[in-house]
Order: sequence, then C-alpha cells, then structure tokens
Amino acid sequence: MKKIVLSTLALMGLAHANQCEVTIKGDDAMQFDVKEFTVEKAACAEFTVKLEHSGSLPLAAMGHNVVVAKTADIDAVVADGVAAGPEKNYVKEGDERVIAATKLVGGGESTEVKFKTEGLEAGGDYTYVCTFPGHAAIMRGKLLVK
Ligand code: CO
Repeated sequence: MKKIVLSTLALMGLAHANQCEVTIKGDDAMQFDVKEFTVEKAACAEFTVKLEHSGSLPLAAMGHNVVVAKTADIDAVVADGVAAGPEKNYVKEGDERVIAATKLVGGGESTEVKFKTEGLEAGGDYTYVCTFPGHAAIMRGKLLVK
C-alpha cells in the first residue's frame, strides 16, 4: 500500500514538472513545431522553454532562438535584435521588453531558458519568435497566460 502511494506521488511530481515547460523544435525549413503554449501562473512560478534544432544546417545559415515579449513589443524586439547581431544571439543587450530569450543554436543543438512567471499578465497578449534575420515572420507563436 505504501509503495503504491509513493508511486502515485512520484507521478504527480512528474506531471507537475512537465506542466511548467515546453519543448519547441525548429527545423531547416524555418518552422517551429509548436504554434502556441500556455503558462499557468498558479502552477508554475518558473517556466522553462526548451529549444531543439532538429535540422542539420549550421547556426550561421539557419540559426534559431526563442524570444518572448509582449506582442505589442515583438516587432521592435526583432528589429533591435537583428541589429545586435549574432554575437548577441540577435537580442539587444539589456532589452527590458524581452521576457525570456534562449541563445541561438544550429542544427542538432539544443538549449533552454527558464524565466519567472510573476510578471506575466493572465490573458495578456504574448508572442515568441526566432530573431535570426528573416525568420520572425514565419517562426512565431503565441504564449497564452492563465
Ligand atoms: Co530561426
């Protein structure tokens, strides 16, 4: 009996952990496989975005990152990110509009970023993009908050 209870608790723990993260794949065709994901603030004080580059093209040709900002800010974040260049992972240094940003990865690589959810507004309008030059128009999705 004790064993069963412990297993159940372990499973609940796993479910809880998975709820506070998302894995997004980016490929050589400039596509994210996830178009939207939800952050549940009450369940997740922190949230992890994992990025896997499932392609094989090098970073310089087909780099991907995931950058989260308010939808109203995203175009400016992308423009300033592109201007910042690859050595800054195409994110302007100290950009306070950026809620979370992974580094840039190339084919076969992966990375992740963890961020606090307390600043997110339930029902707010948030977008994630890849800020590699030319990618943000296609590589973008919605972050929903509840
Ligand atoms: Co990209």
